[in-house]
Amino acid sequence: MEVVDKIDMTTEQNPFREDLLSGKTAIVTGASRGIGAAIAHRLCEAGANVVLCSRSAESVAQIADTLQDKGYTAFSTAADISEKADVDTLIEKTIEQFSQIDILVNNDGITHDMLLMRLKDEDWDAVLKTNLTGTMYCTRAVLRPMIRQKSGRIINISSVVGLVGNAGQANYAAAKAGMIGLTKATAKEVGTRGITVNAIAPGFITTDMTAEIPEENQKQLLELIPLREFGHPEDVADAVCFLASNAARYITGQVLQVDGGMVM
Ligand SMILES: NC(=O)c1ccc[n+]([C@@H]2O[C@H](COP(=O)([O-])OP(=O)(O)OC[C@H]3O[C@@H](n4cnc5c(N)ncnc54)[C@H](OP(=O)(O)O)[C@@H]3O)[C@@H](O)[C@H]2O)c1
Repeated sequence: MEVVDKIDMTTEQNPFREDLLSGKTAIVTGASRGIGAAIAHRLCEAGANVVLCSRSAESVAQIADTLQDKGYTAFSTAADISEKADVDTLIEKTIEQFSQIDILVNNDGITHDMLLMRLKDEDWDAVLKTNLTGTMYCTRAVLRPMIRQKSGRIINISSVVGLVGNAGQANYAAAKAGMIGLTKATAKEVGTRGITVNAIAPGFITTDMTAEIPEENQKQLLELIPLREFGHPEDVADAVCFLASNAARYITGQVLQVDGGMVM
C-alpha cells in the first residue's frame, strides 16, 4: 500500500504527445461506452482520425459528437461486429471517409455468464460470435488495406479471464483465450508486411460490464490486486495508444496485462 500511495494514479490526463498518431486512421469497435469510448478519446487526443462503432447508432453517435465538439476528427457508424456484412460495410465506410486504416482496436464484447452445467447453447454461441468471430471478421477485413499500406496495428482487447479462466464464464473465457490465439497466429502471418498484432488483457476495470458484480465480490477481488485499486478505462486506453504508436514497432504477438498485478 505504501508504494501505491507514492505513485500518481491519476489516469484522466493524456500522457501522450498530441501528434503521436497524427495522420493515422483508427477503428474502435464497441466505442459507445466504457473502455471503447476511452480508447476512442485517447486516440483522438493523440491525433488520430477515429471511426467509432457499436450496435446502437444513437449511443455511439453521442460519443463521436462529444469528440467532434472538442475539435477531434471522429466519425460514428452502427455495426454489429458479429455480422460479417456489417463489418464489410464498416471497413468500406472507413476507406471511403479516410482512404486508409492504420489501427484496428477490437474492443467490443459481451458476457452471458452462467455455470457451464446450466449454460444454454445460445449463450455460448452469442459470446463466441461477438467476442471471437467478430474479432476475426474485423481483423481479416483490415488485412488487405494494411498489406497494401505495408503497415498496420491490430490491438485485441482480451481479458485476464482468457489467461486464467473464471468460474461462471466458460463462454467468455474461451472466447477471450481464443482472441489470444488469433492474435499470435495473425502476428506470425503478417509480420513481414509491417503489421503488428497484439492483445491487451485487462483485469477489473470499472465500466457497465463490471458494475453488476455484487459489492461483496468486488471487495474480495480488490484483495487480489497488488495495487489495491480497480482499473479505469483510461488505463486500457493508454496501453492501446502505446501499442498503436511507433514506440511499439518491435512488439508483436504479445499479451499486455493491464490488471494492477492481479494475474502474474
Ligand atoms: N470492464 C472490465 O473489467 C473488462 C475486463 C477485461 C476485459 N474487458 C473487455 O473490454 C472490452 C470493453 O469492455 P467494457 O467493460 O467497456 O464493456 P461495456 O461497457 O459493456 O461496453 C461494451 C461495448 O461493446 C459494444 N458491443 C457489444 N456487442 C457488440 C457487437 N456485437 N457489435 C458492436 N459493438 C458491440 C457495446 O455497444 P452496443 O451495446 O451499442 O453494441 C459497448 O460499446 C470488452 O471486450 C470486454 O470483454 C473488460
